[in-house]
Amino acid sequence: MTESFSLKRIEIDKTWSFSDKTVKDTSYITHCYYTYPAKFIPHLASRLINEYSKEGDIVVDPFMGSGTTVVEALMNKRICIGVDINELAYFISKVKTQPIPTKELIQFNWEFLPDLKTRLNGKYDLYLEKAKKIESENERIDYWFTESQKNKLLILYYSILEIENKNIRNFYLVCFAQILKTCSIWHQKSIKPTRDLKKNLQEPFQLFNSQLNKMVKQNDEFNSMIASEIKANLNKYRIIQNSDARNLPCQDEEAALIVTSPPYVTSYEYADLHQLPSLWFGYFDELPEFRKKFIGSSYKTRDEEIDLQSKIANNIISKFGKSKKANEVKNYFADMLECFLEMKRVLKKGGRACIVIGNTQFKGVDILNAEVFLEQLSNIGFVNEDIIHREIPSKMLPSTRDKKTGQFVKADSSDLKLAYPTEFILVMEKE
Ligand SMILES: C[S@@+](CC[C@H](N)C(=O)[O-])C[C@H]1O[C@@H](n2cnc3c(N)ncnc32)[C@H](O)[C@@H]1O
Repeated sequence: MTESFSLKRIEIDKTWSFSDKTVKDTSYITHCYYTYPAKFIPHLASRLINEYSKEGDIVVDPFMGSGTTVVEALMNKRICIGVDINELAYFISKVKTQPIPTKELIQFNWEFLPDLKTRLNGKYDLYLEKAKKIESENERIDYWFTESQKNKLLILYYSILEIENKNIRNFYLVCFAQILKTCSIWHQKSIKPTRDLKKNLQEPFQLFNSQLNKMVKQNDEFNSMIASEIKANLNKYRIIQNSDARNLPCQDEEAALIVTSPPYVTSYEYADLHQLPSLWFGYFDELPEFRKKFIGSSYKTRDEEIDLQSKIANNIISKFGKSKKANEVKNYFADMLECFLEMKRVLKKGGRACIVIGNTQFKGVDILNAEVFLEQLSNIGFVNEDIIHREIPSKMLPSTRDKKTGQFVKADSSDLKLAYPTEFILVMEKE
């Protein structure tokens, strides 16, 4: 394949855009629990699962993020295997795939909320003191939260940690994680971590209650929709881990299908974006070390040279000359090649890898992720079965990038360039 071959020429298939779906549709069952950047539209994952696998098959997502694929695999009676390097993603995916008996949750809910109010009225100071004792000095939390918001959140957080039932405790912790951004001075519309010192802060207890009510309803829906066989044998149907996409918890050649959307090169620093819940949950002590684990991070370095299996990739890298960016892009494609080799290991002969990916641009250079992935996958033993070109409804992704820096920017900023107006689904069959 030559670089002049552009996948952009493939006609757009509108049936894959799901532009008729409302926010309510896309946040059905547990999909509403957490706002994760670059989250899949559940209907896309579900359609791929139904078209390329059958009931009882193993479906894998090596970059599961907030678990859209794994939730949909369970809903469609498949065995799901999901992995993410981000502990927060793993935690959210675990909670989103864990139906809780509605009765237990509602009973608990009723007990928990009046209890919280009592704490507020009577024992507020006591709990605050206790929380402060447990809380070690954390400058980064202080950077993002005002003193009064932080104090309320501390009470909420340590009250949740007292919950004995692990599933219910985790359910409440995801609810807590979801409200953090709104409670903090993190610029609500910014994709990058930016402070907004004039932000109108919302009351944490009210926010928590309203998110909790929503989640209780959605858990109820999930509970009633998921097959009882799966509910009764969840450990058999669900394997999810906080690990690397290059080390999947799968036997050789056991998976029928992979449905995934990989990270992008330096588009999001995922580690930075998830720092609020990660700070509260103590997931990282050292942000710089944490960042390096993420594929696509500009903080990662690689010593050894690797054959990228892609002329297109080499050509793109050469356009960056000897700059730091050349190395970042090279690392990214090298990391992705390793991920594809791991996908090949776990897939059965005839199994499919469905890779959802868009092309990007940096400093005027087109980063043709889809073309490179297609070349790499074809060179390591996959056959291309289909390439779906889809439009991304704007509500799903930040759609603009700064032309100079290549970073995502606010939609109202000047100097804009549409970043992902369309993307591709590469359907690759293992030979
Ligand atoms: C585009 S997001 C996936 C979103 C997901 N499809 C969803 O619906 O939420 C890409 C994910 O790749 C993860 N990631 C980055 N480097 C990784 C690695 N080395 N191994 C596994 N996951 C990684 C990021 O943490 C992020 O969650």
